[in-house]
Amino acid sequence: MLSVLHSQHKFNVMKHIHLIAAARPNFMKIAPLFHALKKEPWADPQIVHTGQHYDINMSDSFFQDLQLPTPHIHLGVGSGTHAEQTGRVMMAYEKCLMANRPDLVIVVGDVNSTVAATLASVKLGIKVAHLEAGLRSFDRTMPEEINRVVTDALADILWTPSPDGDENLLREGISQEKIVRVGNIMIDSLEMLRKTIDEHDVYREYGLKKGAYGVVTLHRPANVDNPKKLKQICESLSRISEKIKLIFTIHPRTRKNLEQNAMMLMLKNAKDILLLEPLGYIRFMNLVFNCRLVITDSGGIQEETTYLGIPCLTLRPNTERPVTISRGTNQLCRVENFEEKVLLLLSTGNETVPAINLWDGKTAERVVHSIGGGLGIPMPFSPSISDTDSQPFKIRP
Ligand code: UD1
Repeated sequence: MLSVLHSQHKFNVMKHIHLIAAARPNFMKIAPLFHALKKEPWADPQIVHTGQHYDINMSDSFFQDLQLPTPHIHLGVGSGTHAEQTGRVMMAYEKCLMANRPDLVIVVGDVNSTVAATLASVKLGIKVAHLEAGLRSFDRTMPEEINRVVTDALADILWTPSPDGDENLLREGISQEKIVRVGNIMIDSLEMLRKTIDEHDVYREYGLKKGAYGVVTLHRPANVDNPKKLKQICESLSRISEKIKLIFTIHPRTRKNLEQNAMMLMLKNAKDILLLEPLGYIRFMNLVFNCRLVITDSGGIQEETTYLGIPCLTLRPNTERPVTISRGTNQLCRVENFEEKVLLLLSTGNETVPAINLWDGKTAERVVHSIGGGLGIPMPFSPSISDTDSQPFKIRP
């Protein structure tokens, strides 16, 4: 009966939904949701690319790997200071919203465009949903933390990945009825492409052996914008490469700083460090699937390695993803001690880790159910929905 109602709705309502994509870590969060919404007769999902990341290897290759269409709207804001980037997205997106008002705007993650698109939308009275809500590092020196707090304070629907997200939001006075725990959307992308990732042999292309190399990614201003710290990191990486081969995919921010401070040569002269441009999703994940360990300061990689049971050393004093430490393979480290931790890891075996509730590749399905329910669309029952213990909610007119 419900499925009949569902298909009848096709002719009565078409909900226009904007998915905001801006920077590399956003693309794998919108892809599963775009594909899931595309299958719904009532949904017209449109990708809005703000242009915060614009290089082929930071943006286009992700669209290709994740089978996303060319963005429906491109704001082309590019780089700039935080205020410039945030302001430019707000101005460009506001124009676009005034010309064509969607029923719902979905923002993901914590980049400058996330908060900018939220601000532009709520001021026009357009409903906003935040996917990956409630994460907190409690470190306001991180630009992302400020983006998270502001976005969550303003959004109408908050989709969280794990119970700590719900707790953080409730502590900030956000009403329970706005919060829906849907799980981790990054795992949906990983599961969607797992077979393709497995079929590739990227690590072999680089002459690496399965389980015998480490993957390195670094881009956080706190690590790479401070030349003294960056030098210390490079020195440790050089010494680590005497014990295990490293493959370092270099983010544009990091490359700029390595070049400006003449540190590229130090890495080139190290015993065994392969220096690469940033890779696309499939090629990068193939390297992660087959590595011994990861050294990173990324948020998403802490989650992916936890899910895959791969040791991850996170060069940060805190994490907004505590479940990766309590239930996963992630360890926080300092610049002064990560070398020691790598050596310790090399002398022990990999742990097996328990599965985390709702990190199951079905988050997009739960989000679609949540949107449909909130918009008053009769949704058919799906077994994955019963896994969530959050309250139902309404997208109020
Ligand atoms: C941004 C996000 C961060 C996210 C990261 C993932 C904010 C505040 N930060 O940091 O949360 O984890 O993306 O990569 O939103 N650049 C290029 N080519 C590109 C993109 C950037 O050369 O395609 C250069 C820019 O000129 C800039 C630097 O890289 O100088 C940093 O880019 P920016 O968007 O400011 O922040 P990220 O460090 O990438």
